[in-house]
Amino acid sequence: MIERVEQLRSKAEAEIAAAGSAEALQELRVRHLGRRAQLPQLLRGVAELPAEQRAAVGAAANQARHALEEMLERRAAELRSAELGSLLESDRVDVTLPGAPPQPIGRLHLLTATRRELEDIFLGLGFTVVEGPEVETVHYNFDALNHSPTHPARAPSDTFYVAPPAAAGRGEEDGASPGASGAASELVLRTHTSPMQVRVMESHPPPLYVVIPGRVYRPDSDATHTPQFHQIEGLAVDEDITLADLKGTLLAFARAVFGDAREVRLRPHFFPFTEPSVEVDVSCFNCEGRGFRADGARCHLCKGEGWLEVLGAGEVDPNVYAYVPTSERNAPGYDPERVQGFAWGLGVERIAMLKHGIPDLRLYYENDLRFLEQFG
Ligand code: DAH
Repeated sequence: MIERVEQLRSKAEAEIAAAGSAEALQELRVRHLGRRAQLPQLLRGVAELPAEQRAAVGAAANQARHALEEMLERRAAELRSAELGSLLESDRVDVTLPGAPPQPIGRLHLLTATRRELEDIFLGLGFTVVEGPEVETVHYNFDALNHSPTHPARAPSDTFYVAPPAAAGRGEEDGASPGASGAASELVLRTHTSPMQVRVMESHPPPLYVVIPGRVYRPDSDATHTPQFHQIEGLAVDEDITLADLKGTLLAFARAVFGDAREVRLRPHFFPFTEPSVEVDVSCFNCEGRGFRADGARCHLCKGEGWLEVLGAGEVDPNVYAYVPTSERNAPGYDPERVQGFAWGLGVERIAMLKHGIPDLRLYYENDLRFLEQFG
């Protein structure tokens, strides 16, 4: 009897070892351990055996059954891991390959592309690009730029004031509105990139040729104003600088942006930190400065003027130099008897608007791909 058990066991073991799939194993399980299989039947018949054989045969058959069950489990696990291995092998993905089909890699936002284009023009003219903080002190944003204490731009309706961290905390506890402490705050979201003029002069000696691109903020929102926009400030300080240098620089800029045939004109204006101050116009590229199109229609871009206003500029007011203390870092310092300079501030949104015929500045910020995909 025991021999019979051993025969059944070794036959089953050989078959299990050779099984090549989960289905084959399942079939073997039924064949060798199922209700009608020989080994379980033999086990059930143990009770009818002569008493002296029962224990030994019962034990051998039980052992054989356990061994086969275990072996089935082991073989199933082996097959599962082999299957996974070959799946991984055949389904291997090389993540360094381009997608199939390759996805478009996207493009620069029109404002980023325009900013970089303008930066490149000024780099080519010998300027260096520097950046500054967007949360600015009233000192740099207004005072050091020669704004009178009552200058209207200081009003909370024209400038975003920022509550300093301590005041913000207190405001919350008191339940006071954040604006309540705003007017007295010494911090603002910079309203222009001009505050960097003084900061750069504090840390760099003359001669200085820098442009300062960056975000600026004002509480305005309509087709030609967004509460956040971008400017590029320019500042040149050296000996023997005149308004002619400013005009030459801006002429080179205007031609690089709007075409070789452009001219610039300076109109008198007022800014607190320049003297004289000018607004700078570029001859209209849409009508070649005539104000009318070839078909006689009034030019829609310059509204018949022949000129497009592009930026504000001027000669640095000597009062501004007085806000630049001489230190080790900027020695010999900014002595208005010795150095002069010019500065300008332009709006990146406005340049891109003119160049590409954008009807509404808010389009830049709505992230509508139908708009953005037209550029770049
Ligand atoms: N900061 C001025 C503004 O935002 C623009 C400006 C005008 C900047 C004249 C200048 C300048 O540097 O010289 O309106």
